[in-house]
Amino acid sequence: MTANVAVLVGSLRKGSYSLMIAKALAALAPATLKFKVIEIGNLPFYNEDTEANAPAEWTAFRTQLKASDAVLFITPEYNRSTPAVIKNAIDVGSRPYGSSVWDGKPGAVISSSPGAIGGFGANHHLRQSLVFLNVPALPFEVYLSGVNKLFDEQGQLNNDGTKDFFNKFLKSFEAWVETNHKR
Ligand code: FNR
Repeated sequence: MTANVAVLVGSLRKGSYSLMIAKALAALAPATLKFKVIEIGNLPFYNEDTEANAPAEWTAFRTQLKASDAVLFITPEYNRSTPAVIKNAIDVGSRPYGSSVWDGKPGAVISSSPGAIGGFGANHHLRQSLVFLNVPALPFEVYLSGVNKLFDEQGQLNNDGTKDFFNKFLKSFEAWVETNHKR
């Protein structure tokens, strides 16, 4: 199958390494995986009171996610957890109750950091929500440490070992989506 993959990037900054990872993966991806970064920085904070009159940004986000076959989270670590922007996107997508965009959608998680631990804490806090939301998450661990040394000034991946690792990840994700996508 050809799968539309919604890519959620947990950093809003222009020079984000997370965004560089997203672009590098999209360039390496097999033709069966069509990656698209979905905007999450424009989503108003989730508030149940406004659900009856849902902001247009929530509705557009939910529509895009519903139309995608799989989801890939690429997150930095903020204070040993997931940045608020990605948690908010998860919350927005999970409601209204009974209409979650996440239910049964295969996913994967990548975390990174300039530091040594590679965003392990963020990665696993995110996975905790995915278990609750019934997202079958690929059990392939990607904690990219020293991420600030993997890209050149133009944001191009310049590390062959990481390229090989990304290709292995993509092969695994491709098979995971094929096996787990909703029929
Ligand atoms: C960080 N950073 C960070 N790094 C880490 O390894 N563990 C952590 O707990 C934190 N905490 C943290 C909190 C806040 C508020 C900021 C702004 C940053 C550093 C972080 O890994 C670094 O800024 C990355 O470059 C952020 O990812 P992007 O923006 O490059 O994708």
